Amino acid sequence: MGQWTRESIRQVIASKFAGRKIIAVSNREPYQHFRSNNRMDCAQPASGLITAVDPIMRASGGVWIAQGSGEADREAVDEWDHARVPPDEPAYTLRRVWLAPELSREYYYGLSNEAIWPVCHMVFRRPQFTERSWQSYRRVNEIFAEAVLQEAGGEAAVVLIQDYHFALLPRILKRHNPKLRVAQFWHIPWPDAGAVRILPWREELLQGLLGNDLLGFQLKEDCAHFFASVAQNARNALGASGGCAAADGHVTTVRAFPISIDFAEHSRRAASKDVDANMRRWLGELGPAPEIVGIGIDRVDYTKGIPERLAALDLLFQEHPEYLGRLVFVQVGVPSRTAIPEYRSLDDEIAAQVSQINGRWAMRGWKPIVFVPRQLDQQTLIALHLMADFCVVSSLHDGMNLVAKEFVGSRIDEDGVLVLSEFAGAARELTDALIVNPFCVYEIAAAMHDAITMAPQERRRRMLGMRAVVAANNVYRWGSELLAALARTDPSHGAHHDRHRERLPEPEENTYARRDAQFV
Ligand code: F6P
Repeated sequence: MGQWTRESIRQVIASKFAGRKIIAVSNREPYQHFRSNNRMDCAQPASGLITAVDPIMRASGGVWIAQGSGEADREAVDEWDHARVPPDEPAYTLRRVWLAPELSREYYYGLSNEAIWPVCHMVFRRPQFTERSWQSYRRVNEIFAEAVLQEAGGEAAVVLIQDYHFALLPRILKRHNPKLRVAQFWHIPWPDAGAVRILPWREELLQGLLGNDLLGFQLKEDCAHFFASVAQNARNALGASGGCAAADGHVTTVRAFPISIDFAEHSRRAASKDVDANMRRWLGELGPAPEIVGIGIDRVDYTKGIPERLAALDLLFQEHPEYLGRLVFVQVGVPSRTAIPEYRSLDDEIAAQVSQINGRWAMRGWKPIVFVPRQLDQQTLIALHLMADFCVVSSLHDGMNLVAKEFVGSRIDEDGVLVLSEFAGAARELTDALIVNPFCVYEIAAAMHDAITMAPQERRRRMLGMRAVVAANNVYRWGSELLAALARTDPSHGAHHDRHRERLPEPEENTYARRDAQFV
């Protein structure tokens, strides 16, 4: 297939899953309701997961089950906790699950983000393991299972589970309704088997995941780590080879599906008039127009390497005083998971670092760092991408990092340099970025200098290369490939399970590293 579009997803659903209900499951909901000036309003939270799954749901007209979190969410649902979305063009049903505040806290902040998140990112943060948060995680997985089973109504529905909040869900679902076709996409990295061993509940978590028919990761190396973890930890696992893992006679296909963005839509928005206006507004906020602009856009999360990036900027000014008064770095830091002490102390650390660096170098109305501590709308982000000479993504470990792909998607002018961590999944595809070790501050500083001094034709060559990669490997490819692979796990599509008993199939070659890669 040449061009991957919304239509590709529609075609896969029509040809492989005709007449079957599609049910997506995630913790974060795709639309939140709130009241403004006595009017009911609805907005989509900024999340790569949501922009990736939304087109599948629009095409399928199914049900998306997620935790209700908007302040007016309860007012917006009917007696089945259903709301039709998107509000302006209803295409599918959002089923909201209500969790008691304490249960939600222990499952989301506790087990999901203080235990599984640090273990999977391997960034040397001590995970917090408590029996209470584990029990809450189990309970929430059961609550979501009830909602899925109810929506499926005993039929052979297709269930698309998102992320690490629901490792136990697939197995519960299969136990109660073996007819379901269940796929899960794990948006964050899968760590090496040694790291998995420190999870006290690793066996239940792995067994839960092995309830899936298809388990998707961002990278092939995540799949390899997963197989090693199964081999070391899951007692009933028959084995893990040939792209499949099996437990209790059930086979799970494991494959990489690097997530992406809607490249065409992104480029279209970058060409719009609004972006011009936004760009001017931004330049005004920065004070006298800076000669050189660098940007960083992240959730404030310890995996994103923000302090390392700011330290690199400090070093850059020490080594290249010629940039003083000329270079401004705009760092957007979207507040995230602030109920977790680690995230709050990172906020404080970054604020102190910004004021220290600004205090050290500021002069004559100029300061080197503009810190924006809030979520910006997409048009403003695109404006920011377009006015940047370089963008820095310095994650210490990241499943994919869509900021990198969005920066590339916005650059319709075929200019701008991306400085990218080798530990972000995106580095496998965006090989024309300046790739750095984010733990090494002087490497980031050197890459910033290289970005600033790079010749225009070299910048263009690299940006064109990256744009071609993201254009070819867009989010519709991700969705279409995932759905097609799930269809292939169906016994009625070729006796997958019986064949497995004799010999596990060969691994599927699926590298997105090259734009001319062949897809199965
Ligand atoms: O990157 C992993 C992820 O869970 C995404 O899927 C999600 O969009 C992002 O982190 C933000 O997480 P949260 O929903 O906890 O704010």
